[in-house]
Amino acid sequence: MPMKVLFVSSEVFPLIKTGGLADVSGSLPNALQRLGVDIRILIPGYPAVLNQLADLKSIGTLHHLPHIDHAELLLGIIKETKVKVIVIKSAALYERNGGPYADPNGLEWQDNPVRFGVLSKVASILASEHSPITDWHPDIVHCNDWQTGLAPAYMKLTEHSRAKSIISLHNMAFQGSYAPHWVVSLGLPSAGFSIEGFEYHGQLSFLKAGIFYADAITTVSPRYAVEIQTAAFGFGLEGLLSQRSDEIKGILNGIETEEWNPEHDKYLIKNYSSQNLAGKQEVKAALQQSLGLNVDAAAPLLGVVSRLTHQKGLDMLVPHLQTLIDQGCQFALLGGGEMGLEALFQNIAIQNPGRVSVTIGYNEPLSHQIMAGCDMFIMPSRFEPCGLNQLYGLAYGTPPIVNATGGLADSVIDSNNAHIANKTANGFVMVEASADGLMACIRRAVEMYRNNKDTWLQIQKTGMSQNLSWDKSAQEYLAVYEGLV
Ligand code: ADP
Ligand code: GLC
Repeated sequence: MPMKVLFVSSEVFPLIKTGGLADVSGSLPNALQRLGVDIRILIPGYPAVLNQLADLKSIGTLHHLPHIDHAELLLGIIKETKVKVIVIKSAALYERNGGPYADPNGLEWQDNPVRFGVLSKVASILASEHSPITDWHPDIVHCNDWQTGLAPAYMKLTEHSRAKSIISLHNMAFQGSYAPHWVVSLGLPSAGFSIEGFEYHGQLSFLKAGIFYADAITTVSPRYAVEIQTAAFGFGLEGLLSQRSDEIKGILNGIETEEWNPEHDKYLIKNYSSQNLAGKQEVKAALQQSLGLNVDAAAPLLGVVSRLTHQKGLDMLVPHLQTLIDQGCQFALLGGGEMGLEALFQNIAIQNPGRVSVTIGYNEPLSHQIMAGCDMFIMPSRFEPCGLNQLYGLAYGTPPIVNATGGLADSVIDSNNAHIANKTANGFVMVEASADGLMACIRRAVEMYRNNKDTWLQIQKTGMSQNLSWDKSAQEYLAVYEGLV
């Protein structure tokens, strides 16, 4: 009998995406399905989800959910991957304009505790004897981040589920902490509102619930599994995480090699491979042209695609960016987030026509074009649970320049003399997490790009020929599941 897994997530590419969680929630279930796992994703029925799934049909109704009278369950299929998806259809909770977590102005939905409490609750019901789906019962409920954190609590405390739960930690910075009155109104037992439960500093913490009640915990890179047990990275939950140290496993994210592959990326005017990088020059020229940059093959083109938040450390780039531009570099940024940071970059763009391009907003095609058309990719994150963009940079022959943290440290090997000699170098790692440290690292990369073409090519080819797919990591998740049942 194949293992049955309910994979619960608040965003799944290509249905709905705000960041890397969606990439993982689209590609990992696909890889697990290839390994023979009988997997179904559970996701809220946002309009984008209802519009894009194929073969949607009703498979049951749930009554007496917290705050809503009922919700319909739909089953559909992701066209691209053929992975099955169970959708919670509730117009009251999920059918709105805006993003999965916030309204069109970026303000968090006030009823997020209900929206994600219900997601968690439904997961626990589907893993219980009361599930309206009678022909499919999961052995494993695989939760992701705080939005699903109450599921392990409901499974243990109210639904008495026999299935096992696992929570994957993609980012400890977001915990879903809410006022204590939500405990009762979300149907959780008051007894659980304690240190030994889901209480955290007088609040109901969705993430703590997941970490406390799940049968297994994973992080999205091995380094992050160690980091989050320290005060610097645990965001207050390091104590609990240290207590469960033996049960935490770090598994590095893979990438969807159909979607992110320079050999057949549909967003590029020319495809290319590690055997023949000529096409990358054409993509660079087209990118320069479309962004209004001077079309100049020799100018080192530095790229960024990112949320603009403290986590990503891009403020460290601001102090020295003008110097880099004055020294002949070009810069292309795509991203959005903190308005102050957006404005800083937009100002630099205004002052440097033809040399700096800043695009604020979300743009899927442009994210691929920057990844492919740039010469190097900058990612100085202060913390990075895994990071996917540096992996895309490796795959696209765009060596990443990164800070030594989390998944960046686990995937980027610095181009120092020793690593160049043994042919493992694939990018550049900052020695110090500061503006000067980043500048020194970029200088090293630019210097090599300009003066040592052979070594540069070797670094590009090393990244491009790595196996970055899910093959190995999906096996590791399967091993975690098998250890539980
Ligand atoms: P995080 O999830 O912390 O934001 P990751 O590196 O894991 O960081 O994943 C970010 C994902 O979101 C990548 O697929 C990246 O290409 C995408 N992304 C980020 N910002 C944008 C944007 N402005 N437009 C398009 N894609 C974006
Ligand atoms: C989070 C993290 C990022 C990770 C992604 C997918 O968004 O910030 O580092 O790559 O989840 O696991």
